Amino acid sequence: FNILNEQYGFEIRYIEARLNEDTAMLSSGCNAVCAFVSDDVSKNVIDKLCDCGVRLIAMRCAGYNNVDVKYAEGKMPIVRVPAYSPYAVAEHAMAMLLTLNRRTHKAFLRTRDFNFSLNGLTGFDLHSKTVGVIGTGNIGSVFIDICRGFGMNVLAYDIKKANQKADYVDINTLFEKSDIISLHCPLNQSTYHMIDKRSISKMKKNAFIVNTSRGALIDSEDLLDALLNEKIGGACLDVYEEESELFYEDNSETIIKDSVLTRLIGLPNVIVTSHQGFLTREALSNIASTTLENISEFFMEGSLTNKIRYNSAKN
Ligand code: NAI
Repeated sequence: FNILNEQYGFEIRYIEARLNEDTAMLSSGCNAVCAFVSDDVSKNVIDKLCDCGVRLIAMRCAGYNNVDVKYAEGKMPIVRVPAYSPYAVAEHAMAMLLTLNRRTHKAFLRTRDFNFSLNGLTGFDLHSKTVGVIGTGNIGSVFIDICRGFGMNVLAYDIKKANQKADYVDINTLFEKSDIISLHCPLNQSTYHMIDKRSISKMKKNAFIVNTSRGALIDSEDLLDALLNEKIGGACLDVYEEESELFYEDNSETIIKDSVLTRLIGLPNVIVTSHQGFLTREALSNIASTTLENISEFFMEGSLTNKIRYNSAKN
């Protein structure tokens, strides 16, 4: 932000605390507030920001399930960064899949201790396996291309069939036929807990689930049960439905009370990363430039190219 801001000259105040009802007052004297996926942009927070004189909320992310878009409509515009690097997230999804399948995270720890045993490290060829991609927008489409590069068969499901090259099937066929299922759709009322015991029951035994989208697409307790019952073969989770209190912080000295998360993390066929799919230099630079441009556009020209609109929010 600092480097790119040289051409805009905004006065930027960085506040370490997350945005919520208690911290909203810190925006006093600011014209715009820049928030992220882990911030709380609910009704009361929006009211407090309005009271502080804030005129624009600029989300420095693509997803906006943490924003009360309906309530904000007519009160304060909210902009976002619709696309900053679909490659960053799609590549992270594949990195997680490769890691869990070939157990490279375990091999790394073993060889550091001069343990060269191969026990328990057997994976499977991705080549010729069927991957089901749910959500074929920016990120899902890049993930499809990556999977095709690995020689995988790709099935796709989306409420819009916009990717001309994708092989679309209905959601149940995707659940039934996929060896790996990767989630790339937004979180909204229609996608909340789309992976639960009902959908899991339709999946192949030992299917892998990859979630780099939003935690609440998966009912975590149902996923845990399916892993414990050996119905699901593995889960790669960059997001978790109760992540907001834990992710992005060092909790290594904290007693974690969330027993679903601790049990998931304790399983050998689960890997969890801390919502880092977006974390590449290219994505960070694009996030900063689009956010600054969004703010500049609003205050200089009064236009809102990347406004989140309630009717398109489906929240
Ligand atoms: P996008 O808007 O380009 O694509 C989303 C696709 O999901 C669209 O094609 C849409 O039609 C489809 N969709 C909507 N409702 C659906 C439903 N009920 N069933 C199936 N498909 C449905 O979004 P993009 O950029 O590809 O991002 C996807 C998601 O990835 C975001 O919503 C966000 O939650 C997540 N994300 C995660 C990041 C991370 O760091 N892990 C970073 C950026 C985004």
